[in-house]
Amino acid sequence: MKAVVQHRYGPPEQVLEARDVPVPRPGPGEVLVRVRVTGVNTPDWLTVAGLPRVLRLQAGLRRPKVPVRGSDVAGVVAEVGPGVADLRPGDEVFGSLWTKSVSAGTGTFAEFAVVPAGQLVRRPAGLSATEAGASVMSGLTALLAMRDVGRVGPGRRVLVNGASGGVGTFAVQIAARLGAHVTGVCGPGNVEMVRSLGAADVIDHTVEDYTRGARRYDVVLDNVLNHPPTATAAVLAPGGTFIPNSIGRAEGVFGGLTRVARAKLMERGPTDVRSVECDVTRENLDALTALLASGEVKVIVERTYPLDDVAGAVAHMMSHRTRGNIAVVVHTDG
Ligand SMILES: NC(=O)c1ccc[n+]([C@@H]2O[C@H](COP(=O)([O-])OP(=O)(O)OC[C@H]3O[C@@H](n4cnc5c(N)ncnc54)[C@H](OP(=O)(O)O)[C@@H]3O)[C@@H](O)[C@H]2O)c1
Repeated sequence: MKAVVQHRYGPPEQVLEARDVPVPRPGPGEVLVRVRVTGVNTPDWLTVAGLPRVLRLQAGLRRPKVPVRGSDVAGVVAEVGPGVADLRPGDEVFGSLWTKSVSAGTGTFAEFAVVPAGQLVRRPAGLSATEAGASVMSGLTALLAMRDVGRVGPGRRVLVNGASGGVGTFAVQIAARLGAHVTGVCGPGNVEMVRSLGAADVIDHTVEDYTRGARRYDVVLDNVLNHPPTATAAVLAPGGTFIPNSIGRAEGVFGGLTRVARAKLMERGPTDVRSVECDVTRENLDALTALLASGEVKVIVERTYPLDDVAGAVAHMMSHRTRGNIAVVVHTDG
């Protein structure tokens, strides 16, 4: 099968290469998926670049331990491993092979990928493969941040920094649907889009610094970490929750990780600071499916790329200007 392989760290166009590799085999509890569409997410480009460098301690010192990137997938079940009774070849599914362990599995930037059965659900007819494949990591992260970590409900004042990106476009819609008064922070070209997704107020970050404003919020989801965590926490209303959800700058040895460490330390202090994890379970995927299939939450897909141009897709993510989500279309046939 064709897969996009990475054997060293560096610029995507220099280190990503389409190669013929063996089709992986599903083990117990696993499913071989023929990939229709795969999403591109922040962990993908961080591992391509190997930045910040300290992350290589975990991902692999000289080269990534896992040579194929990608985790989100929409596709067709090709084969099931021993013990998988509720999925069959031919089923249209979506999900993700994402786990916290970077050495788990091989990625989805390939014609086939092996995914744990417990991290796949059936894709309903009303949800396209592109919408499904582009939505898993960013949609689940936004859902869990708003519903579980922020406990967003009617009347809560929610600020989403990075409202026009993958996680942000989902977070704005989900918070608005939960009845919150949403303020989105984005660049000038995305103000109207963020408003159309349900934000009552939109702050253009090139004009106004929200950490210097007088407005206070019950929940702040920070997808950018471009301000010191103490400055962001200062805009919380009493009892508010700050959800740092970015490693900030990805450069040098530590990049924005010192800010992440400071935010982590704040978890022990009086401010309610909590992180969000993209927890890929069938229950969470079902909740996301319900939101997407009902049409209440839309998947914003800025553009799609062919498998031969994964490098272009990853480079676009690295620009920090992605509008919603981007996806790689691998197979388009039935
Ligand atoms: N917790 C988890 O498990 C988990 C899972 C997935 C992702 N994440 C994290 O979530 C974060 C967001 O991911 P993503 O996929 O949404 O990223 P993304 O799509 O790459 O974000 C791009 C967006 O960032 C916005 N942006 C750039 N500079 C900004 C600024 N100064 N102020 C406000 N917005 C700015 C851009 O908006 P404009 O062009 O409009 O300026 C663009 O729309 C990442 O840091 C990622 O690491 C966490």
